[in-house]
Amino acid sequence: MRVAIYPGTFDPVTNGHLDILKRASLLFNKVIVAIAIDNEKESLFKIEERKKFMEAVVKDIPNVEVESFDGLLMHFVQKKKAHAIIRGLRAVSDFEYEFQLALMNKKLEKNVETIFLMTSSEYAFLSSTIIKQVVSLNGNINGLVPEIVEIALKKKFNWEKA
Ligand code: COA
Repeated sequence: MRVAIYPGTFDPVTNGHLDILKRASLLFNKVIVAIAIDNEKESLFKIEERKKFMEAVVKDIPNVEVESFDGLLMHFVQKKKAHAIIRGLRAVSDFEYEFQLALMNKKLEKNVETIFLMTSSEYAFLSSTIIKQVVSLNGNINGLVPEIVEIALKKKFNWEKA
């Protein structure tokens, strides 16, 4: 049973995350999405909401589970007896940070590999921050986030249509 962890803040989940997740689910017997409860980033959505969105969007992928975690990612990975950490790479700019995380995680647990999947080109420019910014300025994010997230974002930013 090969298990992978896909960690992130997911504030909120985007179609770019979903793309990585679907592809990772084909490579492993089980993928656990690990939503960071607390991060240095101040999140727009509470952990319960981020988890609810993720659960809704992965409900049709049978080998994906959603959990939240606090503290060190590697402690969560060890607790789940996972073999790998999945990370999406969007651009060269992601590389330095990801390389640092991967090396540190390797130092913490040498038996766990970090696997990088290249984000599909149509989502390469996406981030949760840019999505939130566009919605807050009444921009159209259709097709970039799951519908449940689009509705919630519009509500958060008091869109009349929501
Ligand atoms: N498509 C679209 N956007 C993507 C994406 C993809 N495929 N992959 C990442 N992103 C975006 C995210 O939405 C996020 O956007 P934001 O910065 O605007 O919020 C950004 O890219 C980075 O996200 P991600 O790569 O998921 O990292 P993160 O900062 O959300 O999460 C943790 C990082 C939680 C995994 C990391 O901080 C961690 O492990 N924390 C636990 C503490 C710990 O163990 N620290 C030591 C680590 S060695």
